[in-house]
Amino acid sequence: MVHWTAEEKAAITSVWSKVDVEQDGHEALSRLLIVYPWTQRYFSSFGNLSNPTAIAGNAKVHAHGKKVLSAIGDAVGHLDNVKGALHELSDIHAFKLHVDPENFRRFSEVLVIVLAAKLTSSFTPKVQHSMEKFFAVLVDGLSHSYH
Ligand code: HEM
Repeated sequence: MVHWTAEEKAAITSVWSKVDVEQDGHEALSRLLIVYPWTQRYFSSFGNLSNPTAIAGNAKVHAHGKKVLSAIGDAVGHLDNVKGALHELSDIHAFKLHVDPENFRRFSEVLVIVLAAKLTSSFTPKVQHSMEKFFAVLVDGLSHSYH
C-alpha cells in the first residue's frame, strides 16, 4: 500500500485539476511518438504518423491522447488504490496489446515535460517530486500484469 502525505495528495490533485485531457493528452502522445519513434509501431491502425506535422494533425492521436489522460485522471481519483484502478488496463496492455512496459515510463516522462511547460513556475521541484512519485505508482500499477 502506497503512503501519500497530505501535501503530496494536494499537489497531485491540484496539478491534475489544471490538466486539459484533450490538449495535454494529444501533446504528450505526440511527444512520445516523435521522441521515441519506435513506439509508432503499436499504432499502425492510426494512419500517417511519419512526421511531426502528420502526428499533430492526426485525429486518432488526438482521441487516444484524451483516452489515456482520462484513464490517468481516474487513477488520480483513486490514489489509495491505484493498482486496483489500473488492473484491467494492465491486463489489456499486457495480454492484448503486448506493449513493452518500458513505454509506460517513457510516456510518464514526456507527460512531466508537457506539464512543466504548461504550468511553468507553479511546477516547483516539490510538485515535480510528488508527480514523479505518482507516475512511479501509475507505471507500477500498469505493469502489474506483466509480473
Ligand atoms: C489503449 C491507457 C500507455 C499503447 C489504451 C486505452 C487506455 C489506455 C484507457 C483504451 C483501452 C480500451 O480500449 O479499453 C493508457 C495509460 C497509459 C498508456 C493510462 C499510461 C502510461 C501506453 C503506451 C503505449 C500504449 C506507452 C505504447 C507505446 C496502447 C495501444 C492501445 C491502447 C496500442 C490500443 C489503441 C487502439 O487501437 O485504439 N491505453 N495507455 N499505451 N494503448 Fe495505452
